[in-house]
Amino acid sequence: MDNAVIISVGGGKGGVGKSTITANIGALLVRNHYSVGFIDADLGGANLHLCLGVRRPLRGLQDYLTGKYKTLEEITVPVSLPNSWLISGASDILELANPRFSQKQKIIRNIAKMEADFVLVDLGAGSDNHVTDFYAAFPCGIIVTDGLPTSIENAYGFLKNGVLRGLVRLFSGNGEIVDSVRRFSDPQSGRAYATVGEMIEGLTRRFPRAAQEMRRWLQRRRTFLVLNMVKESEDVRVGERFAEMVKKYLSLNIYYIGYIVFSPDVRKSIKTMRPLVEYCGASRAAECFAAVTNNLIALTKGCF
Ligand SMILES: Nc1ncnc2c1ncn2[C@@H]1O[C@H](COP(=O)(O)OP(=O)(O)OP(=O)(O)O)[C@@H](O)[C@H]1O
Ligand SMILES: [Mg+2]
Repeated sequence: MDNAVIISVGGGKGGVGKSTITANIGALLVRNHYSVGFIDADLGGANLHLCLGVRRPLRGLQDYLTGKYKTLEEITVPVSLPNSWLISGASDILELANPRFSQKQKIIRNIAKMEADFVLVDLGAGSDNHVTDFYAAFPCGIIVTDGLPTSIENAYGFLKNGVLRGLVRLFSGNGEIVDSVRRFSDPQSGRAYATVGEMIEGLTRRFPRAAQEMRRWLQRRRTFLVLNMVKESEDVRVGERFAEMVKKYLSLNIYYIGYIVFSPDVRKSIKTMRPLVEYCGASRAAECFAAVTNNLIALTKGCF
């Protein structure tokens, strides 16, 4: 079996629809005959299980982190969809909301060994390292925003921190390189560079190999933008502008793979604990999910 395509789903802001989008894309991947693993990496307020028909998961990441189970396979639970599995997060164990770096690394390393065609990793809200390390760890990531200025700013902050975390981790042993990256990220430090591209350019003369490696790391990444809760056709343009900004300032390959209309059916589907595409497959929102999923398949499968 080929390696799974692992895709993180983040957005910086809370409540923009990350878990809803994870569940619906996953359900459509299953319908397209792919096997799918769902991982709820929201360690502070896990609830992806509720979008997938599981009222109380019997096991979850807390059991893995506390050593009760030794492998990720052992903590998978079945969901309402065929050909798929779920690893639930933790919602009420405070110390797990901020796991140690080594604990996070252990999860990340072992996700890559899981069997599935696609593994979708649903992230919690926020842009701090606990969240963005998951985005930086895998070459593919979906970024969800509802297009409002606050949400756009959070999404940008999420991607910026994710990129910088990824670049710093490539050279954690080289203080000078790490300082350059940190200077870029800290607005108080009188940074010399306006864009990630300029920062790498600035490193090229003294550290040509490191600069080359950074460029390669960025080139390998694919970030997929989904605009959620769209109410007017004008909103759709917001996604295009955001993608242009991310390309220009963060040097990320970002693909705007579509939008999901705002629909009361989405909320209703959550009450039935089923993805909308299962509960109400003929709706406009379901059509949007299908378009987004088709784009995602086209841009990932066979590429890695
Ligand atoms: N397209 C949509 N139309 C209408 N309601 C939506 C849409 N997408 C999501 N919602 C609703 O918004 C709420 C938040 O969605 P969801 O839990 O998926 O967000 P989240 O980003 O995962 O939140 P958190 O940051 O808490 O993990 C839910 O009640 C969901 O039903
Ligand atoms: Mg969520």
